[in-house]
Amino acid sequence: MKVLFSHKTGNKYFYDENSNQDYHCKEGMIKRDDILNNVIVKSNKGVLFTVLTGNNFDRSIKIIRGPQIITNKDLGYIISRTRINKFSNILEAGGGSGAATIFFANLVNSVKTFEIVPKHFEIIKKNLKKNEIENVELILGDLNEYIEKENDNHYDLIFLDLPNPTKILEKNLNCLKKGQYIVIYQPSITQIKEIVDFIVKNKREDFFVEEISEISVRNWKITEKIARPEFKKEIDHTAFLIFIRKV
Ligand SMILES: C[S@@+](CC[C@H](N)C(=O)[O-])C[C@H]1O[C@@H](n2cnc3c(N)ncnc32)[C@H](O)[C@@H]1O
Repeated sequence: MKVLFSHKTGNKYFYDENSNQDYHCKEGMIKRDDILNNVIVKSNKGVLFTVLTGNNFDRSIKIIRGPQIITNKDLGYIISRTRINKFSNILEAGGGSGAATIFFANLVNSVKTFEIVPKHFEIIKKNLKKNEIENVELILGDLNEYIEKENDNHYDLIFLDLPNPTKILEKNLNCLKKGQYIVIYQPSITQIKEIVDFIVKNKREDFFVEEISEISVRNWKITEKIARPEFKKEIDHTAFLIFIRKV
């Protein structure tokens, strides 16, 4: 994959190197040979582009979208906060579009992902293939029904991005190593409150709520004459994160 950055608009375009066609976009036509052999190219409308070789970040933008995906700002924080690494095993639900799955899979030893909706399952399957991910076990099913069948002390992180996560907290979570995290991603703070209430009401001393967070990113535009926050790229609220440790 090649990535073309327009010098005029800052727009980003993706070019499949396996295509034998020239590239057409609203900023003009760019010749295939130019894209493959140059770093700076010019369209027939006179717009200049910088050509880069695509990386994992670019590929993540191009995944097939089904359910709403988690954002990079939140994924980055989960990794730094839980310190999962190349030896870690993650249990995840629901898979959705596979954005979190692919991100985790590129960093850890293994990911097991449950997705309950067949249509979403197929999207994740395609996205995993497209991204050449081989350390994910993808299961079509309800995590609630399977979680107690997982091997004891196997997982370093349980990541939940689904409705009614307290149903999972009611289960026996022997599959999660002690001291490790259940991270739950929920769009509304009332949903996070429900989780905290559930833990308190049920006197769940096996869970310790370590942190509740909302992550913000502010991008800046800097040119010769401008130095200010970007208007378009500001990501406002996405969801809240709760970090629960298994005692
Ligand atoms: C918001 S999406 C997850 C998006 C995903 N984190 C991503 O980044 O692409 C929530 C998904 O959870 C699935 N889901 C809901 N309940 C589930 C359950 N009990 N077990 C497995 N998947 C479930 C839904 O079908 C949906 O695809």
